Amino acid sequence: MNSKIKTIGVLCSGGDGPGMNAAIRAVVRCALSKKFEVRGFLRGYAGLLNEEIIELNHRSVSGIIGHGGTILKTARSQEFRTPEGKKKAVEILKKHGVDALVVLGGDGSYRGANEVFRQYGYPIIGLPGTIDNDIFGTDQTIGCHTAVHTALEAIDKIRDTAQSMERIFVIEVMGNKSGYIASQVALGSGAEEMIIPERTFDFEALYRDIKEGSKKGKLSFMIVVAEGAGKAEEISAKVTEMTGLESRYVVLGHVQRGGSPLAPDRILATRVGVAAVELLEKGIYGKAVGVLQDEIHIIDLKNAVQRDIKHIDEYSRLIRMLA
Ligand code: F6P
Repeated sequence: MNSKIKTIGVLCSGGDGPGMNAAIRAVVRCALSKKFEVRGFLRGYAGLLNEEIIELNHRSVSGIIGHGGTILKTARSQEFRTPEGKKKAVEILKKHGVDALVVLGGDGSYRGANEVFRQYGYPIIGLPGTIDNDIFGTDQTIGCHTAVHTALEAIDKIRDTAQSMERIFVIEVMGNKSGYIASQVALGSGAEEMIIPERTFDFEALYRDIKEGSKKGKLSFMIVVAEGAGKAEEISAKVTEMTGLESRYVVLGHVQRGGSPLAPDRILATRVGVAAVELLEKGIYGKAVGVLQDEIHIIDLKNAVQRDIKHIDEYSRLIRMLA
């Protein structure tokens, strides 16, 4: 065991995602197996700054591997974004004898973790916990698989009514800066169009496609929009205005963040959770852990915060070709 680290802290930050509990369990149990002590911080960096700290033991994480959400709760913290907030966080970690921290979160959480590591040399490891799947250095993030599945199931149901009533549907999925969920579910549901923040969208082309389709008797049309690319309600109104055809919209919202994690999320979470503790054990810090091509992949935290756009051009092409 690395002599410098005796106690490891763990927290979740930003939006929760299915599989976070599996990651917490892996961190806790792996750390205990290596004789580290473990502390959990409640409510992310905000809870850290409020010293909301609990001891985690083997039983604390019993039975949680299949539960959605996070037993540690999660939050976004304005205070932690400030230089003073980060300084205070390191002081609190030291005050409580927490020698290293594992942070589960998305790009914003990684940025904060990276700054703490860079400025204070504080031992920190990031695990990709976000449904958005926009973290560099990993094929998938914890929760994205389940979120896509949840959205897809809902869209399949919408397709039934769309076809029966021959309507256009605009379906808004999560992803403020990321079109990952939108692109996955658009392809997987056989939607005709997707609108995502990473690409400008040509409404004239959409109008032409709908008109072309309706001439051939295609009267139902599914458009998936990522929330950061536009509001489904407004897009639906615009489509009706442009085409004169009836349109409805659905906002899937936070249903996509909940539910029991599917196997890929549990397994990813467990693998990266163990890898995080093993890095700390070896005295390796300031890293982000992911899985690339089914192998554990470690990169510097500073590189993991670049935005990663996965397969979007290919998906766009296929969606248009197969519509
Ligand atoms: O980052 C995960 C995420 O679910 C995004 O897809 C979404 O834009 C955002 O969180 C929503 O955040 P909140 O729950 O704070 O509204």
